[in-house]
Amino acid sequence: MESHRSASLLFGEKGRQGEARSLLLRVLDGSVRSDPYPVFDRIREAGPLWWDESTVVFSSYRHCAAVLRAPEAVVPRAGTCPAGRGGPPAGFAVAVAGSAEHGALRRLVARVLAPERLRALLPFVRGLVDDLLDGVAARGRLEVVTDLAYPLPAAVLCRLLGLPQRDAPWLHRQALLLSPALDPHPLLTGADPPGGEARRRAEQELDAYLGEPARSRGGEDPLPVPGGADGPSSAARFAAACRALLVAGHETSVDLVSAGVLALLRAPHVRDAVRRDARYAGQVVQEVLRLDPPVQLLHRHAVADLDVCGTRVPAGTTLLLLLAAAHRDPRVWDSPEVFSPDGTGAPHAAFGLGPHACPGEPVARLIAEAVLTRFAQRVTGARFATGTPSYRPNVTLRGLRALWVDADGFGDRGLPWPPE
Ligand code: HEM
Repeated sequence: MESHRSASLLFGEKGRQGEARSLLLRVLDGSVRSDPYPVFDRIREAGPLWWDESTVVFSSYRHCAAVLRAPEAVVPRAGTCPAGRGGPPAGFAVAVAGSAEHGALRRLVARVLAPERLRALLPFVRGLVDDLLDGVAARGRLEVVTDLAYPLPAAVLCRLLGLPQRDAPWLHRQALLLSPALDPHPLLTGADPPGGEARRRAEQELDAYLGEPARSRGGEDPLPVPGGADGPSSAARFAAACRALLVAGHETSVDLVSAGVLALLRAPHVRDAVRRDARYAGQVVQEVLRLDPPVQLLHRHAVADLDVCGTRVPAGTTLLLLLAAAHRDPRVWDSPEVFSPDGTGAPHAAFGLGPHACPGEPVARLIAEAVLTRFAQRVTGARFATGTPSYRPNVTLRGLRALWVDADGFGDRGLPWPPE
């Protein structure tokens, strides 16, 4: 078994691991955001990397999957990691798996996202996609991120959580401000991710908003209160579940929708295939999640010694998992860099694995499949309006900032949707 190695040795290290260390710092640099994958490939080729004596970086699929399923590797929480240098961000896990808090919140989340509620959501999402496309038709030009991707998840989350639709734009701005908090800057450089002040204000405002009784917001609480009693603990749990769903579900879904439309623009034959058979949209979404995962990395904290495929990780270590690198692992995919939505690929980990696996997956897929279907059917002659699409600087939640599309037409909302 490869043993844990001292940081002092590694700091002076030359060769592949030394190169991988500098590449990891480059990942933080916004200039690689439009295409971070060659950098991730080189980090993965160097193998597991000890960043310092208490931080290890895994980037192969095998290692990442093993850590996500290991009970000794828990989601980082305030106070679980060594003091001093900034620890890893807490991520969007609601609590440590196995704890009563995690169980209670997952049950509440499961009620919000119950299958019958999702079925009822489908006509709402489809109607909204058509409204949004109708809204840009006169302009003849579409900015995918602002016109399509942003309004949808915010409206859907408001509907699921009983929040008034008029608050959707405000909630999407709060989620956007909060998203850099998931970036690994504190862990790797000790620096606060960009936008610290605005983020802290947004956090307080969101907590205050969600802490208000639903009726005073003009919405309704869709969650049955556990035990039937309307007490402060159920209100606090409801607020925590709302916050988890907004933080975890908003930017990620926005990024999936934008990346999906980008993939269709880059591959007109795939767009034609979706136009001919809308069922194909599901496979396209699956391949976009692999090649352009909205969550590029995750963190864990070792609460006991563990063996990750032969690498010994002592208790107290922080683990950084580069999902975006793992999804292009040539030991799992034959031509990992090729976009091939043929439905035969190995399963990816874009929604996580193990006890924290994403409960919002069906919602994200429902939104993304509706957009890709309608984009392929309605937006005729779609083409890039400007040269290169631009990306937000965020590292963990990577996504487009703007994607302008010119089109010959925006079609007819009367076109039939595939059967529900
Ligand atoms: C494309 C969209 C999405 C992606 C890529 C995504 C990805 C993920 C990933 C990777 C995790 C695991 C985090 C970890 O292991 O530390 C996660 C957890 C979570 N996601 Fe999603 N997610 C998406 C959409 C959503 C939506 C729409 C919702 C809610 C409606 C949601 C709610 C959650 C929650 C509450 C957790 C925490 C689960 C737990 O800790 O047990 N996600 N998501």
